[in-house]
Amino acid sequence: MQSATSMTSPLLEIANLKKHFGQSRGLFKYDPHAVRAVNGISLTVKEGETTALVGESGCGKSTAAKLISGALAPTSGDIRLRTRDGTLLDVATLRGSARKKLWRDVQLIFQDPFSSLNPRMTVRQIIAEPLRNFGIARGEEATMIVADLLDRVGLQSNAMNRYPHAFSGGQRQRIGIARALAVNPRLVIGDEPVSALDVSVAAQILNLFQSLKRDLGLTYLLITHDLSVVRHSADRVAVMYLGQIVEENTTAALFSAPKHPYTHALLSAVPSHREKEKTRVVLPGEVASARNLPTGCAFHPRCALATDLCRKVTPQITTGSNGSRVACHTPLDEAST
Ligand SMILES: Nc1ncnc2c1ncn2[C@@H]1O[C@H](COP(=O)(O)OP(=O)(O)O)[C@@H](O)[C@H]1O
Ligand code: SF4
Ligand SMILES: [Mg+2]
Repeated sequence: MQSATSMTSPLLEIANLKKHFGQSRGLFKYDPHAVRAVNGISLTVKEGETTALVGESGCGKSTAAKLISGALAPTSGDIRLRTRDGTLLDVATLRGSARKKLWRDVQLIFQDPFSSLNPRMTVRQIIAEPLRNFGIARGEEATMIVADLLDRVGLQSNAMNRYPHAFSGGQRQRIGIARALAVNPRLVIGDEPVSALDVSVAAQILNLFQSLKRDLGLTYLLITHDLSVVRHSADRVAVMYLGQIVEENTTAALFSAPKHPYTHALLSAVPSHREKEKTRVVLPGEVASARNLPTGCAFHPRCALATDLCRKVTPQITTGSNGSRVACHTPLDEAST
């Protein structure tokens, strides 16, 4: 249940965000063969909510996560984060220590925590490192905070003196979460945080996210290629295709009445949903290359409803009266009436 303030205050506002990876740095600024990994996304993440970013591999999700977490600089666009005192800062333009200070508020959790956990460091050292880097605590005080964080993520305090290889995938993800929480962030970005885990372990980690959100007042951006992951954990879902958001809505509305043909196809691949619908939309063809985008609607080569207009004119994303957004010339509820 959301509070009245969380319904109204955005923690993160992204406007027309782009990241193009150029092939060369020649005389010409515009590289027609650039990979348009993120190609003009706008998204608002409200405080206390879980917003999901969903799409097939290669659609630009991880690039978006890196832009928002400050690991990559955008080609253009705004990323505004509400600070603790309530002002909105354009973080894309911040440099040096101002940037570092602000980015305490935003932490990333990855699919494979093992690759981000130094195998030669003990769990205590791994979790205490950000405490030291940000000047939060050292020594005994840091050890006490580490013990508290381990407890929060469901691990025993005797995990402290062991090394990452001694833990299972789910336990390692808990260690990664404890490390992310060490700096007391407000926005946690999970980039496919449960994709490498078995279904039952993934469910436990998603439950942990939910209880941490309740206890610590966190806000999540949950990134996944698998819509079934977000069904019970996200408040809103944004669907990405080839660097753009093609649909955004509350989770309930998106699952019950998808408006974009791509969302409809993704949903048909979710087992529980398929049973209800009895039909499965199989998408013809592969995702096009972000280096060579189709003309008009980027989804048109795979869309059964594509017309000449779709092949020529890019549909703009439009906002409905209930705050939902869709980028399609003939959204499904209109097409089917
Ligand atoms: N550093 C890079 N240089 C060039 N292309 C990149 C780079 N990082 C990602 N890409 C390309 O950008 C597109 C989006 O990638 P990514 O953000 O990793 O997608 P996702 O996380 O949705 O799978 C892909 O075509 C990928 O090959
Ligand atoms: S704009 Fe046309 S091609 Fe694109 S999703 Fe809508 S109907 Fe399909
Ligand atoms: Mg990715």
